[in-house]
Amino acid sequence: MAELEEDHRRTERPTTSIVANHGSSIPFRSVGSFSIPAIITGMWQVAGGHGKIDQKKAVEEMKRYAFAGLGVFDMADIYGPAEEIYGKFLREYLGANLVLGFTKFVPRYGSSGTNTREVVESSIDRSRKRMGVSTLDMVQFHWWDYRDVHYFDSMKLLYTLKLEGKIKELGLTNFDTLHMAKLYEECAIPIVSNQVAYSIIDRRPEKKMVAWCLKHNVKILAYGSLLGGFLSEKYLGRPEPQRFELTTQSLSKYKRTIDQWGGWMLFQELLLVLSQIADKYKVSISNVAVRYIADKPAVAAVIIGARLSIAEHITSNQATFSFPGLDQGDVALIHAVVEKGNGIAGDCGDEYR
Ligand SMILES: NC(=O)c1ccc[n+]([C@@H]2O[C@H](COP(=O)([O-])OP(=O)(O)OC[C@H]3O[C@@H](n4cnc5c(N)ncnc54)[C@H](OP(=O)(O)O)[C@@H]3O)[C@@H](O)[C@H]2O)c1
Repeated sequence: MAELEEDHRRTERPTTSIVANHGSSIPFRSVGSFSIPAIITGMWQVAGGHGKIDQKKAVEEMKRYAFAGLGVFDMADIYGPAEEIYGKFLREYLGANLVLGFTKFVPRYGSSGTNTREVVESSIDRSRKRMGVSTLDMVQFHWWDYRDVHYFDSMKLLYTLKLEGKIKELGLTNFDTLHMAKLYEECAIPIVSNQVAYSIIDRRPEKKMVAWCLKHNVKILAYGSLLGGFLSEKYLGRPEPQRFELTTQSLSKYKRTIDQWGGWMLFQELLLVLSQIADKYKVSISNVAVRYIADKPAVAAVIIGARLSIAEHITSNQATFSFPGLDQGDVALIHAVVEKGNGIAGDCGDEYR
């Protein structure tokens, strides 16, 4: 593991040192009442299964993320200590840059009571307490089983809590287009975003989600855009990783995506093309992969996972917007390889159902 990390640092392209970002190169985009940087820092990686987190170091690192203009953090009530780490960070942070904590309400599969105020409110209150805030900046709602129609009740209750000042904005996560539209229409509740998987090889949002989002001014917050780190120099020219080498839950998850799409040999072809484009703009493969998604219609931000206290890519990710963006030729080269694969079947979030 340590060896892999050391190797990673060696292969990643050098970037400039951390610079404060007051909206300089990373653009700001609107999501509901917020104006947020187009890169969000993801905290699933502190939930376990991604290496041992040193919480004190993680808090220090979050201060550097905020200083670098990457101070919007994505977490969830089910991400282990993430909300508490955010709370500690918030108590200590003295900087002037924007800091926001986006969390999620993820009721357990088949759990009853999510149609009652008691259950929904106690979960929201727990997040408020852990994060040390009276109002949660954003709550993104996840639902496992659409056959259980209690999700309408849960959403209405979340909206009541929003009106009462416990939540600032409401979003969704992993909703497909049909059920997002149902929820939106039936509850008439202003939903500002849907957080879904979206990467160069997993373009499911483009089937229906993007058009619906554009029509209703709902923003996409994209995750998995780096395929857990596979979209980087570290894996260029590398043999297919064996199961024991998939050292994080994220790598295991997205290795399945790669296999579903077209397999390791085709993925190497894709990395090669991305590395040529990266060379052209003097950035990294990861920068190209994130930028490809960040500039897509309806996308407000890409959530990039951070293994806080273990590995950080602040300067590298700051370089995402250091170049003018991909031109038509770059996109054609990428698509020529991507289209040799199968595409990922279904709509957003289907993998959770
Ligand atoms: N709603 C949901 O169901 C859901 C599901 C998954 C994720 N998410 C959210 O999305 C976030 C992103 O997580 P993800 O699992 O999809 O991972 P990801 O963002 O695709 O990949 C994150 C990994 O990419 C590597 N990386 C980051 N920046 C890099 C750079 N500039 N150069 C090279 N490598 C770089 C790092 O690997 P190393 O640490 O190994 O260096 C990092 O751990 C999560 O934290 C979470 O907030 C949400």
